[in-house]
Amino acid sequence: MASKFQTRNRQYAAVLAIALLAGCGGMQSSLGPQGPQAQAIAGIGWIMFAGATLIFLLVMALALYALFRSPQRRKEVRTNTFIIAGGLALPAVALTALLAYGVNAMGNLRAVPPASAAIEVVANQWWWDVHYRDENGRVIATANEIRIPAGTPFLVSLRSRDVIHSFWVPNLAGKMDVIPGRANHVILHADAPGRFRGQCAEFCGAQHARMALYVIAEPAESYRAWLARQRSEAAAPRDAGALRGRELFVAHCVQCHTVRGVGTATQRGPDLTHVGSRKFIGAGTLANNRANLMRFIAHSQEVKPGNAMPSHTWLNDDALQALAGYLASLQ
Ligand code: CUA
Repeated sequence: MASKFQTRNRQYAAVLAIALLAGCGGMQSSLGPQGPQAQAIAGIGWIMFAGATLIFLLVMALALYALFRSPQRRKEVRTNTFIIAGGLALPAVALTALLAYGVNAMGNLRAVPPASAAIEVVANQWWWDVHYRDENGRVIATANEIRIPAGTPFLVSLRSRDVIHSFWVPNLAGKMDVIPGRANHVILHADAPGRFRGQCAEFCGAQHARMALYVIAEPAESYRAWLARQRSEAAAPRDAGALRGRELFVAHCVQCHTVRGVGTATQRGPDLTHVGSRKFIGAGTLANNRANLMRFIAHSQEVKPGNAMPSHTWLNDDALQALAGYLASLQ
């Protein structure tokens, strides 16, 4: 029995260790910094963790000493000295040093770099509206996906259209609240090209958990090429199916979704001019492919209950095929 129990315990320990370690590196973790901003934050985190561990060990050692050392052999301490040293001097020095370090690091984080192509991100329940401004001042809109050039600080201005959200891409930067009536800023700076997942980090309603975004850092060259593609109007339909899809789009979708060159929305839903080029739909909810586009259009309220888009249950399979095919073609 005992050995069975031990084996079981060992298995639990292994599973726990794997789960804990898996939580550390990689996607969407502030312990896996991929740029100077996140590096500074991870540094503060580790220093606080190390300091707290040292103090914990010290206190535990003293407690064990008091518990187990026989009364005759215990060393006498003069009470006042001990309280002044351990209760006043040590915390004062440790906390002051930590505060100085933290304030200095935070100052570096807030330093606004010479604005490269600044963008504005507008938080909505429950998606991210992303606006790039080109040299001519025209706004290029995309959603839930931010492209940045790798290796340079990229200034992002944050606004909210409804409630308080929080913009958080742990691998690149700290959390920043997104507050109605106020512009906050965050700097995204990735050391190397890569894809980083971000998440709304302030409870903002039923679909708070499905308010994700991706930051894609690219070499400067491909970033510029992407920006040029985004600037262009939507691709024209290349076959009868896509043509029918565009008709359906004009009939059912254009009131809320802009596709530049086809129609401009009066109400705000994500801009779909180049939706085919994005990795996910529904703010990180589903991978972007035809089957999922059909699913989201027909059953939006099942996939993401409470979002502003109604389920289009009245569209038959042919119509859904055509519409999804057209959207997928908008590269
Ligand atoms: Cu937006 Cu939580």
